[in-house]
Amino acid sequence: PAVYDLAHIQSLVRAIPDFPHKGIVFQDIFPIFQDPVAIESLTLHLLTRIKETLGEETNKVDVVVGLDARGFLFGPALAIHLGAAFVPVRKQGKLPGACTTASYSKEYGTDVLEVQEGAIRPGQRVIIIDDLIATGGTAAAAGELVRKSKGTIAMYLFVIELLFLKGRDKLEGGSVESLLHYE
Ligand code: PRP
Ligand code: ADE
Repeated sequence: PAVYDLAHIQSLVRAIPDFPHKGIVFQDIFPIFQDPVAIESLTLHLLTRIKETLGEETNKVDVVVGLDARGFLFGPALAIHLGAAFVPVRKQGKLPGACTTASYSKEYGTDVLEVQEGAIRPGQRVIIIDDLIATGGTAAAAGELVRKSKGTIAMYLFVIELLFLKGRDKLEGGSVESLLHYE
């Protein structure tokens, strides 16, 4: 299939000044989803990065954890390709049944994240995926949920990394990878 390179995919991301608050430059990934070739290309680039990072451990990944809400755009597609489960981490009050919780702060606010008890089982190897890492608060809380579930973090993976916020410094327990960078 035709595959766009990362520079072309990055050219589709739209920067919106002062959203959702004054002073925040919001990086909007949804223009990528206007073009099915771009969607597929991005999925393939994410998979390539996983294989480059984990090598032979790639086929030992048990669970892809996607973060509410834009991590849900990528998690299930990666899970299908990896032969892994998909597990959602959601903002508080959205998941039924008993949940494990972690609170966090992010670039524009504070929140609580949850995962359903039993969704990640002890010893399972996990990839955490989200569209973007800013301050790293969201991904760090997701990592805490994986550890509380007694899973092992194989890697944290992001489409976009806002390098100037140094969010990766908050992440523990696994490699941190991203495809597109903003200074
Ligand atoms: C955005 C983004 C990440 C998070 C990154 O989600 O999709 O999940 O912020 O910020 P951080 O690194 O500073 O924690 P948001 O909470 O806006 O939710 P949404 O996906 O529901 O729009
Ligand atoms: N999540 C946190 N900061 C963001 C930003 N600048 N653009 C898009 N999503 C974000």
